[in-house]
Amino acid sequence: MNKKRELQKLNTSMHEMCTCKLKATAINVVSGKGSADADIVFIGEAPGKKEDEKGEPFIGAAGKFLDEMLGSVKLSREDIYITNVVKYRPPDNRDPSPQEVEDCWMWLCGQIDLIDPLLIVPLGRHALERFVPGQKISEAHGNSFRREVSGLGSRDYFALYHPAAALYNGSLRETLIKDFSTVPKLLEKIKKKK
Ligand code: URA
Repeated sequence: MNKKRELQKLNTSMHEMCTCKLKATAINVVSGKGSADADIVFIGEAPGKKEDEKGEPFIGAAGKFLDEMLGSVKLSREDIYITNVVKYRPPDNRDPSPQEVEDCWMWLCGQIDLIDPLLIVPLGRHALERFVPGQKISEAHGNSFRREVSGLGSRDYFALYHPAAALYNGSLRETLIKDFSTVPKLLEKIKKKK
């Protein structure tokens, strides 16, 4: 089976088998979207209202901002894969609990394992926390690092502020745009090391 089909199969199983309690209040599972051959996997926090209604990640205001930044480095949604640490919308968009993150972890691991990207980009503190517990996003943003994470082996990471946090905050917005602009060079560097 090719990668694309395998990823589709995984995402279908996610809908049928995920044990996350959020499933009871959500309309749709938001598994992820993009290329099964992506070099970069972007990982957000959890779906919001629009994402829940449509079953697609990052389709609201934060998603538009993300699209702008992707465009600025000559990337599109078709080149990357985008998903979240939590696959269902938490009621009223509250923060996901550590248990909810753990319940969805096997699906995120499965997606990363299949896509096998060169670079993982956690967006914001909730995503970062799952890969680097205790690390502050205000300190980690804009930094790349290689890290061993149980279930994923040793991989390259690049932390960014969450687009929703930066959307209406002038200085965070500028910082995120600046950090984002370094992605292509970082990817080239990683490719050269391979
Ligand atoms: N914010 C997220 O973290 N993920 C989405 O899919 C949408 C908004």
